[in-house]
Formats: sequence, structure tokens, C-alpha cells
Amino acid sequence: MMEQLNNITLHFGDCMDMLKNMPDKSFDLAIVNPPYFSGPERRQFYGCKVSKIGVKRLYEKSETWEVPTAEYFDELQRVSKYYIVWGCNYFNYIFAPGRIVWDKCNGSSSFSDCEIAATNLFTSVRLFPFMWNGMMQGKSVNEGRIMQGNKKLNEKRIHPTQKPVALYTWLLTKFAKEKWRILDTHLGSGSIAIACENFGCSLLGIEKDEHYYHAARERIIHYQHQQHAPSKTQG
Ligand SMILES: C[S@@+](CC[C@H](N)C(=O)[O-])C[C@H]1O[C@@H](n2cnc3c(N)ncnc32)[C@H](O)[C@@H]1O
Repeated sequence: MMEQLNNITLHFGDCMDMLKNMPDKSFDLAIVNPPYFSGPERRQFYGCKVSKIGVKRLYEKSETWEVPTAEYFDELQRVSKYYIVWGCNYFNYIFAPGRIVWDKCNGSSSFSDCEIAATNLFTSVRLFPFMWNGMMQGKSVNEGRIMQGNKKLNEKRIHPTQKPVALYTWLLTKFAKEKWRILDTHLGSGSIAIACENFGCSLLGIEKDEHYYHAARERIIHYQHQQHAPSKTQG
């Protein structure tokens, strides 16, 4: 199933089935975040709220995730000119030397302090600080170390491994060009789609979990409607 939402193309299915049929260098940049474990509910407390009264699961159960093999990364490099692969430290694959570190500014949380991406865009290491720990979220792309005071402005979390729109906005602003063709083989919550919509590039987002495909789709449609709705001051 394929759906076009302005510059965002969504595909419901397995990314490997699609990648195999894509011509070489179909995309300028692939920004991907494949699973490195077999699914959130197979990790204790992942995507859960732990309190004195017990453990509450915050998200729907997902399908079993498959950790990608070398074949996936080979295909990814074949179809895209540049890549940014989140979680590169978990995969047994030789990536180009460039690294991007997202510092989650999450204080004493037991979750990882940072996430690491490999890229062939450059050979150095770049750092993006943006707070992301439950209700504690960064204020903006440029004030990521400062906590958003108004919780109503927080990004709604719909996926257990959701990345902030601000992270994708920073990546695109820093490393992409307008009108670039972007690929995300593991769409998840669709945060990348909102950043692409704002930045002015096209995106193909693939997701194989039916629940999360529809949740991301709804989120993107809602965002696009908000953007195109006439503002109240215009009458
Ligand atoms: C780590 S999450 C991505 C989170 C995303 N970056 C975000 O910001 O929300 C990985 C996602 O890939 C999906 N997935 C797993 N295997 C897939 C496959 N072979 N093809 C497409 N999607 C897949 C999972 O259902 C999950 O939603």
C-alpha cells in the first residue's frame, strides 16, 4: 500500500521488499533508524511507565522486529547517495567514519545518555544536544539543553522509540538541501516526515507495523491540515 501526502510518500510493508526493486541512487539521503532488538515489549520496562502502583505499558504491542542484516545496509548504500544510520554501534557492519551523536540531556535516567549515527556525509563527529526524557523535552532546535517549560508545547509521543522532530530538523538543516529526496526505511512515529514537510524536501517513509503505519499517517495528516488551515487572525 502506497499513499501520497504532499511531498511525503508512505509505504506500508517490509522495506527489504521495496529496496530490492529500487534503482541505484534513487535518493539523495537515507536517514534510518532500524531496530537493533526484536521489539519493545521484549525489553523490560521499555515503553512503560513505572510507578509505585505498578508498570503500565504506554504503547501498543508491536510486531516482532527483525534486526537488519548486512544485505539491508548494502542495499541502503546502493539506493542512496548519502546515509545517516542511527544505532550504528549495535550493528555488525563497517560504516563510513563520520559520526553524529545525539545527547539526550537526560540527567540520571537509566536509558542511554546518547544515540550514535554513522554517516558518509563527512568524516568528523558532530554533536546535537536535545533533551528527550519522558515529559522533559528540549525547548527548540537551538535550545535543546533547556527544558520546554510549557508542557502543552511538548511533542506527543506515539511510538516507543520515537525520535524528536527537532533532531530531524537539525539534520536536514545542517546536512541536506531543499528538494533532496529523503528515504526512511523504518518510519516509526513519522517525526522525520514533519521535518521534511517543513524543510521542503520529499520523503519516502516505509513502515511494516500496521498500528504504527496508521498512527504515523494520522500524525502527518493532522500536521499538514494544521499547516494549511487559515490562521484565526486572517478571519
Ligand atoms: C526504531 S523504530 C523507528 C523510530 C523512528 N525513527 C521514530 O522516530 O519514530 C523502527 C521501526 O521500524 C519498523 N520496522 C521494523 N522492521 C521493518 C522492516 N523490515 N520494514 C519496515 N519497517 C520495519 C518497526 O515497526 C518500527 O516502527
